Amino acid sequence: GLPARVRIHEVGARDGLQNEASVVPTEVKAQFIRRLAEAGLTTIEATSFVHPKWVPQLADAEQLFPLLGEIADVGDVELPVLVPNERGLDRALALGARRIAVFGSATETFAARNLNRTVDESLAMFEPVVARATAEGVGVRGYLSMCFGDPWEGAVPLGQVVRVARALMDLGCDELSLGDTIGVATPGQVVALLAALNDAGVPTASIGVHFHDTYGQALSNTLAALQQGVTTVDASAGGLGGCPYAKSATGNLATEDLVWMLDGLGVDTGVDLGALTATSVWMAEQLGRPSPSRTVRALTHK
Ligand code: HMG
Ligand code: MG
Repeated sequence: GLPARVRIHEVGARDGLQNEASVVPTEVKAQFIRRLAEAGLTTIEATSFVHPKWVPQLADAEQLFPLLGEIADVGDVELPVLVPNERGLDRALALGARRIAVFGSATETFAARNLNRTVDESLAMFEPVVARATAEGVGVRGYLSMCFGDPWEGAVPLGQVVRVARALMDLGCDELSLGDTIGVATPGQVVALLAALNDAGVPTASIGVHFHDTYGQALSNTLAALQQGVTTVDASAGGLGGCPYAKSATGNLATEDLVWMLDGLGVDTGVDLGALTATSVWMAEQLGRPSPSRTVRALTHK
């Protein structure tokens, strides 16, 4: 069966924009996030408190985050932010962030390239972050990248993924997002990983799925996950995105493509597809390039 309701974890403003070469003005980012909230998204990843040299596009986190306070008038919207270390946590807490995400890797190569650490060193780096955040009542999502394949290492053994997933949950993350960073997964792999995590004591209710659409598999993989009981799905408005530290990664599953499928299946998301599409069209104009989302293109074809 399928869940009655799916919570979309919108990553366009973070995962989407972090890969854009030209710097998007802070005011445009704020308006993007506000419009996403008005379209009915309730979890909108806002930015990252990482080293500004590593992700120059998000170097304006200090300027952006305070502009988002007024979104409270739209309704109950969570604005999680990425935090890799204690320095990032200090910055996020100083601005009043109420939810954060640490981001680990199932492979050594990506841990080195994305975090300048081994897998275990990155877990050690996250430990005080999760502990301090939790003590302050700030919930923590744990991202796990390269769950289904790695551009340098190829196939990633299931046991390796499960070990790091388990470690992130043991640190105190309340949610685990399974990242197909380069979009190579196919549905059988998704079912197998969810089963292995279940066996390892990671409940499906705490799992989100994070698919990139490089090989056009994101929606199929999502449906497979939903059929296994997953109810949290990461997606990016208009299909923006890619990861600057993973070659060949394209955008995330487009939120519009996801909402089109879920609307058709009668699964509630609370998202107004028309308002969302208009937002992505507007954002595409800001970026000077059409949205890669098939649904956005179909709905706006003249
Ligand atoms: P490092 O160079 O090892 O940092 O980078 P360090 O700990 O050695 O510190 C060096 C200097 O950086 C110090 O300054 C620190 O204060 C400063 P100095 O003393 O030399 O003047 N520094 C910071 N400044 C501001 N904010 C901070 C911060 N931390 C240190 N937070 C580090 C290590 C983790 C910082 C770096 O590797 C980094 O920022 N990486 C972020 C990479 C990133 O954001 N990648 C994209 C997100 S992951 C993703 O997209 C995948 C995902 O979507 C899921 C999927 O698709 O799989 C989530
Ligand atoms: Mg991603």
